[in-house]
Amino acid sequence: MGGRPHSAPKGTEGILDRDGQEIETAVEPDLYIQGGNPLHGDVRVEASKNAVLPILAATLLTPDPVCLPGVPWLHDVDTLCRVQRALGSEVRREGRDLVVQSVDVNPFGAPEHLVRRMRASFLIAGPLLARFGAARVPLPGGCAIGSRPIDLHLKGLIALGADVQAGNGYMEFRAPRLHGASIYLDFPSVGATENLLMAASVADGWTTIENAAQEPEVVDLANFLCSLGAEVRGAGTAELRIHGVSRLHGAEYQVISDRIEAGTYLVATAATGGDVTVGPVLPEHLKPLLAKLREAGSEIELSGDAVRLRQRGRLQPIDVKTLPHPGFPTDLQAPLMAALSMAQGTSVITETVFENRFMHVPELRRMGADIKIEGRTAMVTGVSHLTGANLHASDLRAAAALVIAALAAEGKSTIADAYHLDRGYADLEEKFAQLGADIERRASCSEAL
Ligand code: UD1
Repeated sequence: MGGRPHSAPKGTEGILDRDGQEIETAVEPDLYIQGGNPLHGDVRVEASKNAVLPILAATLLTPDPVCLPGVPWLHDVDTLCRVQRALGSEVRREGRDLVVQSVDVNPFGAPEHLVRRMRASFLIAGPLLARFGAARVPLPGGCAIGSRPIDLHLKGLIALGADVQAGNGYMEFRAPRLHGASIYLDFPSVGATENLLMAASVADGWTTIENAAQEPEVVDLANFLCSLGAEVRGAGTAELRIHGVSRLHGAEYQVISDRIEAGTYLVATAATGGDVTVGPVLPEHLKPLLAKLREAGSEIELSGDAVRLRQRGRLQPIDVKTLPHPGFPTDLQAPLMAALSMAQGTSVITETVFENRFMHVPELRRMGADIKIEGRTAMVTGVSHLTGANLHASDLRAAAALVIAALAAEGKSTIADAYHLDRGYADLEEKFAQLGADIERRASCSEAL
């Protein structure tokens, strides 16, 4: 699968180019899709956004340089790079690599306007506190998918010895030295596990985190920390054991590939009745999705680090419940619902991880989908075809779902606020176009339909 250079994210304000210079503000773009083309070909999967973000935050733990090869151009990565630059880190692009060094860091310097853009910015709290004995972090923002509290992060940091004060829109942490602790998470939160894992890696003594998140991105963070000299055991299980070390050093580290990006292309292939190979992937990471797609009638072949999906005829209805890993990932719930809205029967989709993650449903209904919601469950009765419509994206994965629906639909669709896609998908329309989709970004959609 041939690599090709990334283009910088489009249509956004104040994005940095490869040399760290601001790219000029552009008009907010919209996505135009003429549906009906089955996808065919190969598509290259980038390094995982959700692994890059905590790993980038973890670079704050060492004064030495860290090199992350092949980090995609994504808004969320750009936002965290900016936060870290504001703190004093040197962050630069060297070709497709990201090189970070954090020597003179101001742990009180995180700018509110950047942190509010993205919930994952809160991942700087653990590393800053652990290395500098203090941190001030504005309360985070993020996708509009529920209240998304940070109580588990806070409880864990307090257990490690932090004094936490809430200010006007920010949290202030102090602890001259963190000490190991026994922490039980009420819910296996990915972000809380990552924040605590980073903090514990340089705390005094042993920390255990029970009911820890087991997501591949948490394992990747643990592997990254170990490459810096940390001692972490049990990554990928519900119990993490971390022995704090006095200092972490630099490293070069290859982040895992993005299972959610790969899953999005696979689901799009299933929805359009195509034949696509995605890679590189770790097929193990895609198991929960592949099991469901097989159940729905997709033909799936694994070969090394690639997955091929062939779809003949309509999908069969299935029941899906989102759960923490190794359950079905919530980030693929909306994309899969888009595909199942054209299945031959009624699917039942239950979202247990986030509240308010059905914001794509009214948009799918505008295309003719038959979806009823009761609490956290959606009853999706497949229709023979969706029809193109003017759509509005509310968050990253909802936007991906609308792209999939539009690719499979009859006729033209536009997607407003398509910038959400740039948070998590590099070169999305170029990749879909290479697979045969009729998809384009334009500056305005008002006269198109
Ligand atoms: C991460 C992912 C996101 C994914 C999610 C679940 C990143 C950057 N984002 O988000 O794409 O959808 O995992 O796989 O990696 N919760 C609390 N208290 C807390 C923390 C979380 O109640 O202190 C709740 C949340 O409100 C939510 C659930 O736990 O209902 C899951 O959240 P969490 O696992 O923390 O997700 P994130 O780390 O935010």
